[in-house]
Amino acid sequence: LENGLARTPPMGWNTWNTFECNINETLVKQTTDLMVSSGMRDRGYTYVNLDDCWMTRSRDSDGNLVADPAKFPSGLKALGDYIHTRGMKFGIYESAGTMTCQSYPGSLGHEQADANRFASWGVDYLKYDNCFNNGSNSQEDYIRRYSAMRDALRATGRPIAYSICEWGDFAPATWAADVGNLWRTTGDITNNWGTVDAIYRQNVGLASAAKPGAWNDPDMLEVGDGMDFQEDRAHFTLWAAMAAPLIAGADLRSASVATFSTYLNSDVIAVDQDSLGKQARRIATGDGMDVLAKPLRGGDVAVVLFNENGSARTISTTAAAAGLPSASSYRLTNLWSKELTTSTGGISANVPSHSTVIYRVKANSSGSSIGTAGPIQGA
Ligand code: DGJ
Repeated sequence: LENGLARTPPMGWNTWNTFECNINETLVKQTTDLMVSSGMRDRGYTYVNLDDCWMTRSRDSDGNLVADPAKFPSGLKALGDYIHTRGMKFGIYESAGTMTCQSYPGSLGHEQADANRFASWGVDYLKYDNCFNNGSNSQEDYIRRYSAMRDALRATGRPIAYSICEWGDFAPATWAADVGNLWRTTGDITNNWGTVDAIYRQNVGLASAAKPGAWNDPDMLEVGDGMDFQEDRAHFTLWAAMAAPLIAGADLRSASVATFSTYLNSDVIAVDQDSLGKQARRIATGDGMDVLAKPLRGGDVAVVLFNENGSARTISTTAAAAGLPSASSYRLTNLWSKELTTSTGGISANVPSHSTVIYRVKANSSGSSIGTAGPIQGA
């Protein structure tokens, strides 16, 4: 959506993956503070997002949504102020239906009033879900419901990033770029390798739809939520290669050093956030192995070697297959180990099960034949 927002995939944190409905202002404030003190904010994780269950079971007598006073006794304007004061942005959740998925009041038919309310609280991001949608069962109807909120958000005059959560029901990659800044492409993620891998497989083929302001969303991150270390890193690496939103889902108050080290890898974040805004393409697949290539601003390419299952094995590709220009040598930087290697064109690694290796590959310019000076005339 060309609203000036999400020129790179949104980054932040959301309550749902760990806390579901057990949310309150203390949790959100503590998490905001941890995002600052851990360095996450300064790495780009700026959105602090509430998911479902922030409100009361019914609207007030004027038809307004009401923040649950037991969970948020200071109110959401104050919570937004708290987040803004710390240099972060405030996200909220609603549903394009009569109720949210957890049966709180939905925004269908109340789009403008609710958008105005969000803007008055200083909201910067809306995730808009798809429950209780009145039997909506056509792409046209989906586009209508999601466009109504897009227009309502725009009419508030406040810049609000817009996250469409219709679970990939009606091929949002084919229409949502004009409606929202990001759109879920799948059902819900869980902290389980099989789900993460299945979601990856559904999202990886949608690369042509992604561009600045408009991103495929394979759902929020489960890093630090119970998978093993290699799986967490593979999940994070694949999401970065797919230019996915990086919305952390862990309890940061108890997150391990390893979890923070994954979320904070600035080289992998830079792949996700690259300003060219391309989602990686899958350039080889088969036998539980994939190779992805993501072109980056300035000509480097991020190459991911992915071992989906089975035992450790060597996965190989070439600089040419990854779209790099012809050169006499290439510099490969392993973005987790930071190891540097030089290659004449081969790109390979031994990759453990449920793991990835990601290289940033640069063509050494001295080897390029393009632009080489010819003989000096008249010498
Ligand atoms: C369904 C969405 O896909 C989830 O991400 C989450 O927002 C829940 N609804 C909340 O009820």
